[in-house]
Amino acid sequence: MEMISRYGTPTTRLISLLKCLKYPLRNVREGDKFVILTDDQMDPLIWQATMAVLNSCGAESLLCLYPQRSYHCADPSPLAIGAAKGADVVIALTTTALNSGTPGLRQIRSEGSGKGKTPVWLWEEMNQEILIEGGGAATAAEVAEMCDIQRRIGEIYDNGKRIHVTSSAGTDLVADISGYPPGALARRWGEIPYERNPETGRLGSGTWPFGEVHVEPLPDTANGVVVWDQTGHFPPGQWQQPVRLQIENGRVVDIGGGHEAREVRQYLERYGDENSWRVGGEIAIGTNRRCLPYTGCMRSEKKRYGAMHFGIGHGADRGLVNSRLRLEGIVDRVTIVVDGKHTVARDGEILV
Ligand SMILES: [Fe+2]
Repeated sequence: MEMISRYGTPTTRLISLLKCLKYPLRNVREGDKFVILTDDQMDPLIWQATMAVLNSCGAESLLCLYPQRSYHCADPSPLAIGAAKGADVVIALTTTALNSGTPGLRQIRSEGSGKGKTPVWLWEEMNQEILIEGGGAATAAEVAEMCDIQRRIGEIYDNGKRIHVTSSAGTDLVADISGYPPGALARRWGEIPYERNPETGRLGSGTWPFGEVHVEPLPDTANGVVVWDQTGHFPPGQWQQPVRLQIENGRVVDIGGGHEAREVRQYLERYGDENSWRVGGEIAIGTNRRCLPYTGCMRSEKKRYGAMHFGIGHGADRGLVNSRLRLEGIVDRVTIVVDGKHTVARDGEILV
């Protein structure tokens, strides 16, 4: 947020923004139907630039703008969900996070036009700086390199059972990651984003900025401590005091720290449910070297090379933990070891 705090978000940034949207929108063609979801807190220049590129490609595009949702993972406006069902692709440019487990998102994915799932491109909490100076500036070659790293990590997870994550801030967590279909993670994370399916011609999924590989622990198996030491979905911004989660048998049993810890607890109590305290979410490591440190912004921090986002609540992969609210936070420079012998990363350096 360095440039934004110095110079604001001038509309002239449209000049640079369009270039950063070239890669994710490279396969858009005439007749594709897009719905953009956004809210009244989003910088309008982001969706204007996105719509301009879509329009220039001949796509049909519709903007659904509604008041900002009151909490992360809250469903979009029901009117927007109606519109999104007719789209080939939905782009989420909201300022609250979405996840595929909310009732509205499930409807969009399963009932969208065409056969199969409607991709929802998750670009929530996007800002000009992330797109232009940060992870959004990644080149095609850099994305290909990320996919290669992600595939290699996915292979280790596919063949692994016990994950052990530590960090200098005090994270020390173990969990069982087995039970995915064979080869699922290598396939998923090694895939180049925003490609068209060669058989159906339909656009595939993608996030922007790009760059993470995650694994979801089996419910009730995570034990230890996670220290969110950078930021989280809430409270927003760079945190001053880390938040320590004590986890027993896949459930958060204590949240310790200073102001941020109190805010996190209150947020979970206000907007979450019983399952928001369970570890369904994900153990993820970012692979994008363009994402800058200390942005205090989850959209970028989640993809930042060597940083982990750890989520509590809803687990979309396995579909076994379903919650109203999923909350994610960042653990910097993690060490990840699988089955005591495969070191995926050490102090934030990916080694596979
Ligand atoms: Fe993730």
